[in-house]
Amino acid sequence: MFGKRSNAATDTIPRPPVAAPPPAAAQQAARGESPPRVEPAAMATPSTMKPPAPAPQPVKAQPRVTVDQRSEDYYQIKTLIFSALIDTIDLAQLAQLDPDSAREEIRDIVNEIISIKAVVMSIAEQEHLLQDICNDVLGYGPLEPLLARDDIADIMVNGAGRVFIEVGGKVQLTSIRFRDNAQLMNICQRIVSQVGRRVDESSPICDARLADGSRVNVIAPPLSLDGPTLTIRKFRKDKLTLDDLVKFGSISPAGARVLGVIGRCRCNILISGGTGSGKTTLLNCMTAYIDAEERIITCEDAAELQLQQPHVVRLETRPANLEGQGMITMRDLVKNCLRMRPERIIVGEVRGPEAFDLLQAMNTGHDGSMGTLHANSPREAMSRLESMITMGGYQLPMKTIREMIVGSIDVIIQAERMRDGSRRITKVTEVVGTEGDVVITQDLMVYEISGEDETGRLKGKHMGTGIVRPSFWERARYYNLERELADALDQLQA
Ligand SMILES: Nc1ncnc2c1ncn2[C@@H]1O[C@H](COP(=O)(O)OP(=O)(O)OP(=O)(O)O)[C@@H](O)[C@H]1O
Ligand SMILES: [Mg+2]
Repeated sequence: MFGKRSNAATDTIPRPPVAAPPPAAAQQAARGESPPRVEPAAMATPSTMKPPAPAPQPVKAQPRVTVDQRSEDYYQIKTLIFSALIDTIDLAQLAQLDPDSAREEIRDIVNEIISIKAVVMSIAEQEHLLQDICNDVLGYGPLEPLLARDDIADIMVNGAGRVFIEVGGKVQLTSIRFRDNAQLMNICQRIVSQVGRRVDESSPICDARLADGSRVNVIAPPLSLDGPTLTIRKFRKDKLTLDDLVKFGSISPAGARVLGVIGRCRCNILISGGTGSGKTTLLNCMTAYIDAEERIITCEDAAELQLQQPHVVRLETRPANLEGQGMITMRDLVKNCLRMRPERIIVGEVRGPEAFDLLQAMNTGHDGSMGTLHANSPREAMSRLESMITMGGYQLPMKTIREMIVGSIDVIIQAERMRDGSRRITKVTEVVGTEGDVVITQDLMVYEISGEDETGRLKGKHMGTGIVRPSFWERARYYNLERELADALDQLQA
């Protein structure tokens, strides 16, 4: 279509009231000349172009684009150029090209469209628009600039018009938006189809993973009322270590030493916390204490853990297909793990009947296994475990369930996202035993808030609770770590 553009059309386009036209255009205007025309023969004819279609109608003067503010005009112009591009380009052929060549093709065509439609733009604005359009055609559209940033923890898209991000523990609204819900749905579809899944009205909920490892959830209409809702937990390229957590003040140096001993002496660990409190991050940190020789099996809903050891088997659950078949649950994975000769089992998130199988594994020679669980305190974590087991259909007396928990879990680490947005380890609690029907736990370390500074940041301290001989003392001794444990606990009391 753009190969057949009419030269007369360009001449008849009324000039927009331009505040600051590019220098060349300004000079031409001063000389009373029309803008230079590109003769059809001189035009780039990219191979991905569709066969010629009818020439475009002259368009109304386009207002100047204000890229930074992303004005209504900008979106109008982008829509105009984008639709012209989609009419022109053969997407199937474009898909055959490598990303750089595809970008070049798009660049050629977009430049032509801009000159045909006589959109007045500076080079910088044109470049920006081009980036945007390439992102739409080749990538994840308006999400691309957010995906490129490493300081974002979460991207939350609530329909086409509202995109939130979480930076530094705080949620903020961005100026990014999608053309419409159809474009957003298209991008959601593109994301989930890369892992062989589908999202539409008939299956409106879908979990997926981006190529970089970011965890994705999509829930589409009719379930989400204001358009498709997309949530992305951005994958951090530089995984946080326990040292980083110490630097951020999430844990004190002495607290980190205690956690080091807990990890190395193969305590069974449950990491408890609210949504986005840093459970998975902490779990990943704790895996650093696993020996390189050990065979580790990880079970996750969406693989997020990044273990450094050479002998790791990573397993992931699978939802049912459209016929409602083929679902592989966390429980299936944990049960299967036991037949895979694991030395440690790591469950990304315990949320159902797999709790029973994990506890059994912990109880039967797979010391040093770990998992995370949603709960607001170690005590609540205990009762959540109990209810997961009872809801799994096990007709066991409560006393037996509690004994099983006590016999399996050694330590609970509580993570919390505080009201100032910071993430902290607020408790390290050991499971001591039962007294009658009651599970006895004792805190080894707690985080105590003492106030807040002038910027609203919480002030506080990680404190020892006076316990110098935790119940995993013998275990620490067995691994020759009792000195280190005693020193770390001493330092914690200081
Ligand atoms: N101690 C910390 N300091 C700063 N940022 C952190 C800390 N711990 C985790 N984060 C960041 O917070 C975000 C959420 O962390 P993470 O995925 O570990 O949370 P989660 O509790 O597992 O969340 P969910 O409940 O959604 O599974 C990530 O971007 C992570 O990099
Ligand atoms: Mg998590």
